[in-house]
Order: sequence, then C-alpha cells, then structure tokens
Amino acid sequence: MHGVPHLDRLPLDGRWRFQLLSAPDAEPTATEWREVDVPSVWTLQGTGDRPHYTNVQMPWPLHPPDVPEANPTGLYERTFELPADWAHRRVVLHVGAAESVLFVTLNGEEVGISKDSHLAAEFEVTQHLRPGTNELVLRVVKWSDASYVEDQDQWWHGGITRSVYLYATGPVYLADIRADAGLDAGGATGTLGTRVLVGFPARATKAGWTIQVRLPGLGIAATAGAPVPPLPHDTHANLDENALLYRVASGQMPTDEEREAVLPALMRRVVPPPDAEAAIDLRLPGVRPWSAEDPHLETLQIDLRSPTGEVVETAQLRIGFRRVEVVARDLLINGARVFIRGVNRHDFDQHTGRVISAESMRADLVQMKQFGFNAVRTSHYPNDPVFLDLSDELGLYVIDEANIESHAFQSTLCDDSRYLNQWVSRVSRMAERDKNHPSVILWSLGNESGHGTNHEAAAAWLRFYDPSRPLHYEGAIRFDWTSDQGISDITCPMYPPISAIVDHARSGRQRHPLIMCEFSHAMGNSNGTLAEYWDAIESTPGLQGGFIWEWWDHGLVQTLPDGRQRWAYGGDFGDTPNDGNFVADGLNWPDRRPKPAMWEHKRLAAPVRLAGDPVELLAGRVELSNRQDFSDLGGLRGRYELAVDGVPVAGGDFDLPSIGPGERAHVSLPEWVTPATERGGEAWLTLHFRTASELPWAPRDFEVCALQLPVGPAAEPVAAPASATVGGPGARPDLDAEGQLVHPLLAAPPTLSLWRAPTDNDRIGGMAARWTDWGIDRLERRMVSIERDGPATVVHSEYRTSAGVSIPHEARYTALDAGGVHVEESIVIPGALSDLARVGTVLETVAGLESVEWFGSGPHETYPDRKRGGLIGRWRSSVAEQYVPYIRPQENGGHADVRWLRLSDATGRSLRLTLDRPGQVSAIHFRAADLAGATHDIELEARPETIVHLDAAHRGLGTASCGPDTLPEYLVGLGTYRWSWTLTD
Ligand code: GAL
Ligand code: MG
Repeated sequence: MHGVPHLDRLPLDGRWRFQLLSAPDAEPTATEWREVDVPSVWTLQGTGDRPHYTNVQMPWPLHPPDVPEANPTGLYERTFELPADWAHRRVVLHVGAAESVLFVTLNGEEVGISKDSHLAAEFEVTQHLRPGTNELVLRVVKWSDASYVEDQDQWWHGGITRSVYLYATGPVYLADIRADAGLDAGGATGTLGTRVLVGFPARATKAGWTIQVRLPGLGIAATAGAPVPPLPHDTHANLDENALLYRVASGQMPTDEEREAVLPALMRRVVPPPDAEAAIDLRLPGVRPWSAEDPHLETLQIDLRSPTGEVVETAQLRIGFRRVEVVARDLLINGARVFIRGVNRHDFDQHTGRVISAESMRADLVQMKQFGFNAVRTSHYPNDPVFLDLSDELGLYVIDEANIESHAFQSTLCDDSRYLNQWVSRVSRMAERDKNHPSVILWSLGNESGHGTNHEAAAAWLRFYDPSRPLHYEGAIRFDWTSDQGISDITCPMYPPISAIVDHARSGRQRHPLIMCEFSHAMGNSNGTLAEYWDAIESTPGLQGGFIWEWWDHGLVQTLPDGRQRWAYGGDFGDTPNDGNFVADGLNWPDRRPKPAMWEHKRLAAPVRLAGDPVELLAGRVELSNRQDFSDLGGLRGRYELAVDGVPVAGGDFDLPSIGPGERAHVSLPEWVTPATERGGEAWLTLHFRTASELPWAPRDFEVCALQLPVGPAAEPVAAPASATVGGPGARPDLDAEGQLVHPLLAAPPTLSLWRAPTDNDRIGGMAARWTDWGIDRLERRMVSIERDGPATVVHSEYRTSAGVSIPHEARYTALDAGGVHVEESIVIPGALSDLARVGTVLETVAGLESVEWFGSGPHETYPDRKRGGLIGRWRSSVAEQYVPYIRPQENGGHADVRWLRLSDATGRSLRLTLDRPGQVSAIHFRAADLAGATHDIELEARPETIVHLDAAHRGLGTASCGPDTLPEYLVGLGTYRWSWTLTD
C-alpha cells in the first residue's frame, strides 16, 4: 500500500461476465453466465444471494476460523486490450475493494490473493501480460476466516465495491510518497518532511536518479532536490571494521579520526539508509494552516528525474499544514482545543448497497458541513480514498478507522495469534495509504473487538510509523476510562450518560481528552437530550465532543411483488438471523433527506451565539460571539426579524463587525422598533446568518444558523376565560349524552390520551412493553356525572386502562361569548402508572381541514428534549406534510411549545385550538395505533380525518435504543395534571 496517485490508468469498470458459484471450489457452468457491473454488490443483482443484516451476531452459527460450506463465490471475467504504448511499462492491477477474499488470475496464471473488504489490493502484473487481448478473472469469495473481523453492524454483501483499473509506470517509478506536513510549536512555520521511495526493477537501485519537490503555491519550485541513494554493493564489514563496530557498541569511545571519518563512511555502507528513499525536509515560514474551518491546501508536486535529467514521473498531492497533539486532557488542532462535532458514517447507498460515487461522498460531506458537523469517523473501516480527498478539501476532521470488528468474538480474537497479522496488516495498510491526508487527525484501531495483544501489536506499529497522530480505540477504555492502557490517546466511550462524562471530567482521574466515539443514537425519532450533552461538553473542561451514531438509515430500496417500493431492513430479504430495523438508525433517510434531528444539531453547532441583556435587547442591541477557533465571522451576513405573536414588526440586514475567534461584540440592529408587548403580546427576535459569498460547501446566502431570543416580558399564559367572555346562563357548550363535546368540525370528540406510538427508543428501551402491560394504549371511558357549575358544565369520567387501572378525569366546559368553548381538564395519575408517554387530549377533525398553522416551535418536528433547533413563530404547512416518515412508523410530527393551532380549508372552515400554556401538539392523518401497528412506512394509509394531540406533558425522546433514556425532567410520571384549552373558529 502506498500514497502515490498514479494517473496513467486503464479503467476496467463496466460490464463483466459473471457467475455466482455456490462455493469457492465449485466449477462454473456454461449456461449460468450473465453480466454484472463492476463495481457492484451481487447481493442486489438478483443472483439469489441476498443482503443479510446482523449487528453483533455472525450470520451463521460457527466459530472462528470456520466458514459455512455454502459460500457464495463470484466469478468475474473480462478481457482488455493492453495499450500499445504500455509495452515496456510496469503495470499494476488495482482492485479498489472486494468482499471479502479476492483471487486474481491473468491469462490463466494465478497472480495473487488479498483480504480486507475496504482496502484496495494491488498486484504487479507486468510479467503476466501479453500484447493485445488479455483475460482477467477475479474470484471473490464471500466468507472466510476474515469475516470474523469484519463483523460490523451493517448489511452483509458480496461483490466488488470500488473501481478496478490498471495503471502503468516506468520501470523506475514513484513507489511511495510520504509528505508529513506540520506546523512548528509556535504555529507560524510549516514543516514538510518528504520521503520518496523510488522503485527499481528487481530492487536494483541505480545512481543518478533524483527527486524534486515543488510547492507552486509557496513559490518553491524545483529548488529542493535529493538524490535517490543507490543500494550499496558491499554491505560487509571486514575484520578491522567489525572490531571497531563492536568496540563502539560496547561503549568504548572511538578516536577522533574514527568518529569523524571512518565511522560515518562505514555506517553508510553497513547500515545504509532505506534503499531508494530520498528525503527532503523544508521549513516554510508563514504558511496558512489547514483546519476544518479553513481547509487551505497546497499542491505538492514530486518529480522523479532520471540520471539524464528527464522527468519520468510526476505525482501531485494536496497537503495541509496542521498540527495535532494531545496535551494533558485536550486534543489540540493547531494549538486550539477544538470541539469535535462529529458523526459516524458508513459507506452506504440505498440502491447499490455499498458502491459509492464521488458525487455521493461529496454530497454527504457538504451536508455535514451545512449542518454544522466538523468531524467524521469512518465507522468502521477505511473509506474510498476520494472520501479523504474531499474531507481535506471541504474541511472535516477524520478519525480513520481500520477494518477490524470482531464483535461476536470480541474477547477472544484479539488475543488469537492466528489473527495477529490481520490486525497489523489492516492497520498498517490503512496508515500507509492515508498518511498524507491533513483531514486524518486520529488513527482508530477498529471497533468493538475487545482489547488484546493483537491491538498492542497494531498500536506499536502505528506509533513507530506515524508519531504525528494520536491513536483512538474504544475497546481499550471500555471497562475503565482511567486505566493506564497505552493504545488509545483519547477516552472515547460509547453512549455514556451525561452525568458519567461530567463526573469523569471532574473526578481528577481523567487521563485523556474525552471524545465520545458514539453517542446520541439516531434511530427513528430520537436524539433526545442532544442539547444537554452539548451544554455539558461546552461547560466542562476535559469534555471535547463526540460522534453521533450515525449518518444514514441503511434502508435498501426493495420492490415488492405488487410493484411498490419500500426501504428494507433486517429480515426483509428473508435473512435470518437478523436484527431488524436496528440498521435504520441515522440522522438522514437513505436518500439523504435530513431528519428533524439534523436541525437540532445545526442549531447546537452554530458558529455564532446570541445573547442580550433584557434592557439592551428591548432597544435592539444584541451581543454576538464567535464560537469558532480560527476564523473571523466576517464571512457571514446578518438579517434580523422582530415579530410580535408571530407577526413581523421590524427587520433588516446588518453587517457583522470583525469578531475574531472566541471574541464577542455588540451590534445595534438597524431600523429597530421597540415591540409593543404590554398588551400580552409575545415578542421574539430571530437572527439569520448567511454566507456572504459562495463557499465550497454552500452557495452564497446559505443560512448557516438562525438564533432566537424572547424580547421583553414573556407573554401571559391564556387565563381561564374572564366572565366577560363567557356566555350568559343560556349559553351552553354542546355536549352529547355521554358528556362529550360535539362540534360540526369534530369527527371524534376530545378524549384523554396517555400513550404514543412507541418510538424505537420506547420499544427497545422497554417502555413500550410496560405501557402495553399497563394498558394505556387502550383506554375506556365511562361518564360518572355531568352537572352545571355556574357558567360551566362539569363532566366527571373514569378512564380505565385495558389492564384495569382507573383514572378519574374532570372536564369543565364553558361556552364563550364570541363562540367556541373553553375546556379545563384535570386528572390524577395513580402510582401504578409511573412513566407515561404523554398526558393530554386527542381529538379528530372532519376530513378536509388540510391547512395547518401554528404558533410555536417549528418549522420542523420538535419534542420536549429535542427542541433547541426549533424557532418560535407562526408556521404554515399541510396536515399531510406534518407526517414524518420514519422507516418503522412511530410517534412523529410533534411540535413543542405550541400556543395555538389552526386547521382550515379553502372554503373558510376553520378550527382553532388555543392552549393555556405552551404544549406539545401534533396534527397528522394517523392515530397512534395506526403508527404502532405498521412495520414499514408504506403500510400506512392516511385517514381523511386529522388526529390532533394537545399535550399537557409529553415524554422526552431520549436515546434508549442504544444508550441512555431521556433525563428525569422529561419524564411524565404520576401526580395531578391540569390543562386547559379553547376551541374556536
Ligand atoms: C455501537 C457500534 C455500532 C452500532 C451502534 C448501534 O455499539 O459500534 O457499530 O452497532 O452501536 O447502532
Ligand atoms: Mg458492533
């Protein structure tokens, strides 16, 4: 493995003859040939071998290193014409990635074998080639001993997943380039250590070859050169020389002459520098550093010159000058303690499984940047090198992870010496390939593979090979964050509760920076308490961020017999055993549309923070701070909007003063109007920050963040209706014989609701099963009494859960003068129901009220513990659009802090629901039971009616599908609940 881009290529991607054999030694049948694309996975090509999803467990019940006899093996054949001008060139076959064992045959001759499904295999094939037409056969075996170290939580596929090509070089060629670009301790001077390994036929180095380094951007052109040292012919020492060497080795001082003349010459001969490696070291004052905020790259050109001075090969790399170090418990990038706002990303495509285009990778990284991520962990294997090129260019800090996960056998394989070489070769080949990328800031030894001797060996290799990057490995700290393990320089736990990381940072026993390698599991409607994680991280020295799990839902597009398509998850291909929809746990749907949780992240990662003293705010003066580490806020433009009760009253554009990293400044907003809030109106100031010019990851005018603050006194809650607004003695709310509200626009009367369609967190975390046991999903109501109390009609009811728990309920209905009704409800939740999904009212409107407007958090879905990303305002949408299509249906479409909601149609029919205090509200075309009863989104049929929930309390989302539940303050427990609302036109 090497870090040289060789661009004289013959692409071999495209249609190949293909046959899927039942086992590696099965013979192909003449009739079974078909064509498939390379790259592609055969598991999505109708070959009979289909995708299989498992998390921890292996897909078959065997022990390492055994593999099943049924072992799908793809036979790929094609011919190619050797370019005529390659006749005297050295030719290498490059297979980008094959799952999982690759055998190569060229023109009938066996060439080689390779393992590691996520790194390229290269074979020098010069001696196997013939002029004209050549026949290449790639045999790819699905299961091997190596499958046990590729047990990542994702789909199992088979196939060739990255490009295949040949490349040609001269007989003397650039075999490897290592460009260590750094910054000196002061940060002002770049350091560049270039080591170029030159390949010679039969390793017979020749004198006179030179390497030249050019950095056009820094004005360094053809000045730095170094000879390629020839391999000495004679490395033997004679008896006298040997005596001298032993004398020195035993500690006896050499004479002056020996030290100055004899020994250096002798050492050069008997311990020569690595053959054919040219070294050039440069110090470059005043370089512009590389960082995720300012990913400045320089082009480094390396020329290989023959003894006659002819340039026989040129390679170009893009390098970035940056410095990564762990100092005490801080990870420093260019000296700054940068927060790691990271996400875990798997190679995934909804159509091709694991074949990813450069455009797709770029789109991922652009979306990460647009949503405030500055870091990505290549969970859990090295990605296509293009991914790192793009990370260098767009600016993301990368944890480059080796393709090692022995999850099902994590406590044994890491100590099994039969697997030692797999550990070391997977780690070393990754590092050799990716060493020149500035984006790579940490090497990861893999994932969920225990901690054993094999890790120690791999870490030792890395430390010696690349002292410039710290190491990361969760297995080393899994059971003790404070142990004196020596292979992870980061304390990188998975899914710790907030209290655990804070306690650790305050314990006095923290040894390394704490950066969570995984947290905030994004399965379904999730990522509750992400804001609290960030509050803790930003306020606790020693805590430095983490990587959300994960970027994608890995739903594969599957066409059903009736022609409909759905996103398939574990089990949908008849795959057993499987782990169901645990593979759908990303921040984005499989087509990369962002889920609502992405907006929460974007808001938390905002580079600008807004504050304001209440008096100054009233006068339109705000305090802005720059939360970046290296850049000014000058690249942003501001716009503000001041709204009272959601109606804009002032607004304007404003320029940002120069605010350096970590600095703050005051800004007076132009054309400010002091909001009139005395009459109970609620004023909110919203600031939008947009890009002033086009960026590599955003167009001009792209909104980087929107921030909000309330201005003036908070609005008064809607009081119980004053007598003036209440109907006279004759005005009665319209109730039926059962004491339930009747209204022409209601299809079902308001009733108590304690349940929600379980989220994945509710289900996997065990709450859903408790709710079913308690029977809160099936409430039965019985009217106990109905009576007049002044202007109100008071209805007492008893709700019984299907398990027989009784809940007394009181509703006071009062007709309003202007029409409509005011409803005050109260219940007492008994001790048996200690943890509910919600407490509130559900009602159903007649069909057709399709427009929805609300004043509250929006525009996207928010929940009590995931609402920091919402903006308080007046939002409009359609009821159909309120549905959020989580792959496995569950509670969705909610909005936090809603003051009122209005449903209407074009004919002027309308229904407005006003809450006494801001609450969680949703309006969708599905009942909770509809959602809970479906396993895939496409099974749902929208009801024509609109189902509206008005919640006095709604349980937080948490992340219990993998990790902690929500925090205690977001639980809905026993006790008395009172809430009220009005229904008007
Ligand atoms: C972690 C693991 C990931 C994934 C995640 C749950 O334990 O490293 O690969 O399985 O949990 O989705
Ligand atoms: Mg795992």
